[in-house]
Amino acid sequence: MAKKVQFVETVLRDANQSLIATRLPFDKFEPMLETIDKAGFYAAECWGGATFDVCLRYLNEDPWERLRKIRAKMPNTKLQMLLRGQNVLGYSHYPDDFVKLFVAKAVENGIDVIRIFDALNDVNNLKVAMEATVKAGAIASGTISYTTSPVHTHENYVKMVKELKEMGASTICIKDMAGIMGPQEAYDLVSAIKDAVDLPIDLHTHSTTGLAFMTYLKAIEAGVDIIDTAISPFSGGTSQPATETLAYALRQLGYQVDLNDDCLVAMADYFKGVRDEFVADGTMMPKSMATDTQCLTYQVPGGMLSNLLSQLKQMNALDRFEEALAETPKVRKDMGYPPLVTPTSQMVGVQAVRNVLDGERYKTVSKEIKAYCRGEYGQTPAPIDPAIRAQILGDEKPVEGRYADTLAPVVEDARAKLGELAKSDEDVLSYIAFPNLAEKFFENRKAKEENACTYTIVEA
Ligand code: CO
Repeated sequence: MAKKVQFVETVLRDANQSLIATRLPFDKFEPMLETIDKAGFYAAECWGGATFDVCLRYLNEDPWERLRKIRAKMPNTKLQMLLRGQNVLGYSHYPDDFVKLFVAKAVENGIDVIRIFDALNDVNNLKVAMEATVKAGAIASGTISYTTSPVHTHENYVKMVKELKEMGASTICIKDMAGIMGPQEAYDLVSAIKDAVDLPIDLHTHSTTGLAFMTYLKAIEAGVDIIDTAISPFSGGTSQPATETLAYALRQLGYQVDLNDDCLVAMADYFKGVRDEFVADGTMMPKSMATDTQCLTYQVPGGMLSNLLSQLKQMNALDRFEEALAETPKVRKDMGYPPLVTPTSQMVGVQAVRNVLDGERYKTVSKEIKAYCRGEYGQTPAPIDPAIRAQILGDEKPVEGRYADTLAPVVEDARAKLGELAKSDEDVLSYIAFPNLAEKFFENRKAKEENACTYTIVEA
C-alpha cells in the first residue's frame, strides 16, 4: 500500500507570521475556515507563536475569542498551536502555575495539538508544558529546535527525542525554523530518529534557502509522516513550501495524499486576493518572498530576517543589513550556539545589530542577554564564551538548576489585581502574558461595551 503523507497547513500561523508579521486579522481569513476544514489536513496551525501577542498589540482582537471562533467553524480538523515551553508565548520563563493553566485553557478553548519547543532544547523547559498537555487530553508534539553547530550531533538529537517520548510526546516535530536543513541531512536525521522511537514524525521547515521541497522529499523517503506547508499564495520565501505543489509531486511519486483539490483551489484563489492587499500596503516585503541562500551561512530564520530588516529600517540603517547579518553567527557562537528561534533569535539579532551600530561588541547588552548569561533561559548547548560572559555579568551570580523553580506563582495575584476588569481565567492569562497590552485591551473593551449601552438607550 502507498505510504501516506499528511499535511499541516500553516497559512493562519507560520506563513502569516513569516510573510506579513502576523498581521492577518480574523475577518480576513474567516471566509475560508470552512474550506480549510474540509480540505483534509492533519492539522491547521492557527494559534500561538506571535499570533497571541499581535492580536492584542495590533489587531485589537481577543486571542482566545479568535481561537473559539476558529474552532466553531472548523469542527473536523485538528487545531494546532505553537508553544515556547516554559516561555509559553512570551520571551522569558514563567512560573509553573501559569504554564499549567495556560495549556489547560488552550485545550479547553479548542486546541488539539500543542507543538512544544524550547529555544535551547533544554528538556527541563519542556516538561511542565508537556505534562499539562497530556493531562488536558491533547496531543503533545515534542519538538527539536533544529540547528547546526559542533555540539548539535545526531546522537544528541536522538537522546532528546527519547526524553520527549518519556515526557509523553505522541508525535515528534523536527523544527527547522531557518530552512537550513538540506535533503541528505533530513534523510539521515529522520532515519536516526525513526530507528530510535516509533512515534509519528513531523518535519517543519521554511523555503528561505530554497531547500525545502528537496528536504521534504528526502525526509519522506526516510519515513517522515507529516510535513508543514502553506497554500501557494502564502508559500515560498520565509514561509513554507506550497501545499498544492507538494501534494501534486508526492502523488506523482506514488504517495497517498488525502487532500481535497477543490478545497485547495478555493483556498489559493481566496488567499491570492489577501496577499495582494498586503503587498499593496507594503506589509509583505519582496525580500521575504525571495530565496536567500545567505541563510545557509547565517542561519537566520524567516521571522528573524524580517525583524532584522524592520529594526534597521526604523533606525535608518538599512545599509548595515549585510554587516548585521554577518555579526549574527558570531554572537551565536559567543552565546554557546543557541538555535535561532524565539526568543533567542530576537536576542541574538538585537545584539548583533547593537554590536554593529555601536562599533564595539557588547558595549550595550539587552536585559534579556544578561538574563540568558545568568542562566534564566536554561542550559545552553555549549558553554557561553567565559570572557564575554564575565564582561556581561560583572559581579552577578548565575542561577543554579531550573530557573522556573525559583519563580513564585503568579495566577492568584494577577486575578486579584485585575478584579472586575478580567471576565475569565483567559483574561487573567492574557494579562500575565502581556500585562500592558491586555490591560489596554480590557479597558477598550469596557469602554466599547459602555458606549454600546448608551447607544441602545438612545435608540430606544
Ligand atoms: Co516555522
